[in-house]
Amino acid sequence: MKPPRKLHIKSYGCQMNVYDAQRMVDTLAPEGFVETSSVDDADLVILNTCHIREKASEKVYSELGRLRLVKDEAARNGRQMNIAVAGCVAQAEGDEIIRRAPAVDVVVGPQSYHHLPQLLAHAKRHGRALETEFPVEDKFGFLAPPKPAAIRARGISSFVTVQEGCDKFCTFCVVPYTRGAEVSRPVSKIVDDVRRLTENGVCEITLIGQNVNAYHGEGPEGRIWSLGNLLHHLAGLPGVMRLRYSTSHPRDVDETLIEAHRDLPALMPFVHLPVQSGSDRILAAMNRKHTADEYRRVIDRFRAVRQDIAFSSDFIVGFPGETEEDFAATLALVTQIGYAGAYSFKYSPRPGTPAADLRETVSAAEMDERLVRLQELIDSQQSAFNQAAIGSTVDVLFERAARNPGQIVGRTAYLQPAHVMASPDIIGKILPVTIESLERYSLLGKLAPSVGAPPAQAAPAQIIASSQMTSGA
Ligand code: SAH
Ligand code: SF4
Ligand code: F3S
Repeated sequence: MKPPRKLHIKSYGCQMNVYDAQRMVDTLAPEGFVETSSVDDADLVILNTCHIREKASEKVYSELGRLRLVKDEAARNGRQMNIAVAGCVAQAEGDEIIRRAPAVDVVVGPQSYHHLPQLLAHAKRHGRALETEFPVEDKFGFLAPPKPAAIRARGISSFVTVQEGCDKFCTFCVVPYTRGAEVSRPVSKIVDDVRRLTENGVCEITLIGQNVNAYHGEGPEGRIWSLGNLLHHLAGLPGVMRLRYSTSHPRDVDETLIEAHRDLPALMPFVHLPVQSGSDRILAAMNRKHTADEYRRVIDRFRAVRQDIAFSSDFIVGFPGETEEDFAATLALVTQIGYAGAYSFKYSPRPGTPAADLRETVSAAEMDERLVRLQELIDSQQSAFNQAAIGSTVDVLFERAARNPGQIVGRTAYLQPAHVMASPDIIGKILPVTIESLERYSLLGKLAPSVGAPPAQAAPAQIIASSQMTSGA
């Protein structure tokens, strides 16, 4: 038997890339690859890249510069190391990567990574390999399923891709070009994936897609199912304790999704619903195809069926043409909605997108200043949201041992991490926790008495919870 080869994979960007990285590991496992956390002893390094903003994609070239040195060092020691670039930069700039980075052996786009074994073999025989086509076959039919041990090692919460690609063509965004057209996976395949996960200890499933609520997959009876239909079905499967979905688009919120929030206790009342701007003029220039008022009405529809629902969002400041008045409309929208958290970004012109042809009107200094003002407002809302948890008793799904010995970390319905001094037996359970105080971004509390929970005196538990939402640059 050949000795196992070591694979190191580094992911940038969105949840889809995190999921894809796992699927690449699963697909290379039958080829004899095992994952390593270190670059230095890796036989294969995969960079799973993101092209969304300039900063993200430029990172790839500096990382490749460092990797070349590691590769050279390995060669001096008589060991061959291969480098592959996957993900959205591979898709958008495949030829440029081949030209600029001679150390790279394989370039593979997000729709072709099921061909990784063949591409690596090709690179070995003939030198370098590049595949950035959108193949006619669906990669999901070719990816090796994760082994039970791999699922268990990844923990109790898992992503499942249900939809990929985007047909929305917001004028600033590269995703429709890097991920291709919207494709929904059939219901039966998703159910198979979810069953495999729950049979191996997973109890929280986050359905992911670039535009997840545009989901329109083929149901077992041949009819097309919406995301709401799919959530209803998955909530009934054994072992599914919590369901989430991300990222949704305001234009694709249909009644079945609202009904799912009304009817399904397993569906968490926390929705990431990006709006980008509060100005109708800018929303139109962005080709978002909705107004700020239409967005407010979507929020109202959710709130009408779930009073405890909370929202997060994405914002872009400094889009070409954004005036102080437009920006004020964004601040007004944020004030009116009241978010549990949000990500905000400075506009970054991306090659090949329609907005890249627009003249930039907002100076770097103005962008910085607007970003700070927006982030201050969002931060204050986030702190208020966390403060409001004090004194309440909330359900926490415990996930894993935390860094501090004896602590177990879990999450509230709103994805706030919660740390408890308790036995690891509570992993995979939802237990009520009384929040007592807030320390920076952390909530402190104790396990509330409940059936099945350890007695309070025997296991005095301290909870430290903090929201994971931060504003990226
Ligand atoms: N599919 C999701 C998110 C896509 S990318 C959606 O439609 O909401 C995640 C976020 O990155 C976007 O919501 C947007 O806020 C930000 N983003 C995308 N392109 C950008 C650009 N060119 N400059 C700055 N931020 C951008
Ligand atoms: Fe990009 Fe817009 Fe599609 Fe989201 S909806 S992925 S922002 S084009
Ligand atoms: Fe980045 Fe591609 Fe995701 S551009 S945000 S990795 S879809």
